[in-house]
Amino acid sequence: MKNFSNTMENGAAESTKSAANNSIDNPQKNAPLAAKENAPAAQSTNEDRLLEQSGYSARVKSFLLKNLSHRPKAFVHTYGCQQNVSDSEQLKGLLSSMGYEEASSAEDADFVLFNTCAVREHAEDRVWGNIGSLKKLKEQNPRLIIAVCGCMMQQQANADRVRRSFPYVDLVFGTFQRWRLPEFVYKRLLGSARIFVLKEEPNDIIEGAPIRRDGTFKAWVPIMYGCNNFCTYCIVPFVRGRERSREPQHILKEVEDLVADGCREITLLGQNVNSYGKNLQNPMTFAALLRKINEIPGDFRIRFMTSHPRDCTEELLSAMAESEKVCHHLHLPFQSGSSRVLKAMNRHYNREDYLKLIDLARKLMPDITLSSDIIVGFPGETYEDFRETLSLVERVRFSQLFTFIYSPRGGTPAAKLPDPVSRKEKGRWFDELLKAQERISSELNRAAVGKTFEVLCEDEGRREGYIAGRTTHNTVVEFPADRSVIGQFKKVKVTALSSVLEGTLLED
Ligand code: 5AD
Ligand code: SF4
Repeated sequence: MKNFSNTMENGAAESTKSAANNSIDNPQKNAPLAAKENAPAAQSTNEDRLLEQSGYSARVKSFLLKNLSHRPKAFVHTYGCQQNVSDSEQLKGLLSSMGYEEASSAEDADFVLFNTCAVREHAEDRVWGNIGSLKKLKEQNPRLIIAVCGCMMQQQANADRVRRSFPYVDLVFGTFQRWRLPEFVYKRLLGSARIFVLKEEPNDIIEGAPIRRDGTFKAWVPIMYGCNNFCTYCIVPFVRGRERSREPQHILKEVEDLVADGCREITLLGQNVNSYGKNLQNPMTFAALLRKINEIPGDFRIRFMTSHPRDCTEELLSAMAESEKVCHHLHLPFQSGSSRVLKAMNRHYNREDYLKLIDLARKLMPDITLSSDIIVGFPGETYEDFRETLSLVERVRFSQLFTFIYSPRGGTPAAKLPDPVSRKEKGRWFDELLKAQERISSELNRAAVGKTFEVLCEDEGRREGYIAGRTTHNTVVEFPADRSVIGQFKKVKVTALSSVLEGTLLED
């Protein structure tokens, strides 16, 4: 165990100044680095990178086999959105190729990874608290490798804070370099100093890397990364970079393979899926991609998120309406019902544009359900502005809302705006919105009683002996059935509304 047990002592060799954000700190001379290893990754091809990283994976695997008396285990904790969940599935795939099995808790693990979210302060606070509690684990097990990655770590100030205040964290990397995880683990195991890599990578899409998916019949498929919109409140474009789309043939192949493996629901992911394909060598619209995925034979559903109203076109809504596998549910964040606030948010649409879009969606798909994200208390928002948000909610009647109180994000334009309304007052507006939405949701749910839906049976319900299934409209219905139906499509008649919709399974 000589190198392995030395890792923390070697940490003393790390640089004390702020990390150069494009390098591994002082890789130890005795680590057997191939000549190519420190070459800028952008110069290598997809195949070079895959080969190089699988070489590191094999070396990690044999190192662990020699040096550990048990099978290595890794624990991955994911914060934030579905994009992060999908990134973590890729990280778990890499860990698996290094020989790590999945640990049920950090206490049980030889490797702990936190994949972080920077979208709101609350998410960040949780991460800091949880990193703090890993100190005890490292003291109990000095061989434990601790890694923190993702959106929060893509910001230099946060990486610097880890460097200063959490000396037991071994690896820090942002969103662009996660495909290099085997290399980082190998170098650290071999005695490199702590590793901090935040370098932005213009082409960080790696095709063909291993993925370990969390589910068997539902899958996330990223179709693009990054965002070009720069909404004034949002940190995402700063930590995930500009839009990059995957080539359609890779997406189609991934979906075909998933469907062949029995997958029943594919959710296409991107910060703004509606602008898919603009930067491809042969540009392609999201609507065209959706139609192509719909043509893949098999019994499966297609969902997608997230859509930006600015890029949501009639072409897309028609593709949805005409593609039988695409669910009749649209998550279309409007953020604010006030055109004045939307302008300050840099959203490039106004209240009327949004309402026209909703009318068009309903004309093309009369049964469509809608959900949305809303920010309450954007800097300078008045109660009158907020009332416009409330009235838009009443007008559209969303089936579900994700509401957030504005959280200032350092480095974004909105964080510099005067923000005179108190948190308490914003809390009151927030509660008013929640109350209105609760009423609308329950009215919509009551209207579903007596109707029959095809549901994808997903999991056990809240009550013993019940299964929870989801309709095309993204509505959850619970009904008595046994676990054998999980992963199958079934017809369910909605019979009652309690705290959830209840139903009975109809014969096939
Ligand atoms: N404060 C509050 N909510 C935010 N969101 C993004 N940035 C912020 C912020 N600074 C919300 C938006 C977005 C969702 C993913 O998170 O509503 O659609
Ligand atoms: Fe953030 Fe706006 Fe991009 Fe969504 S579209 S990720 S809210 S900048």
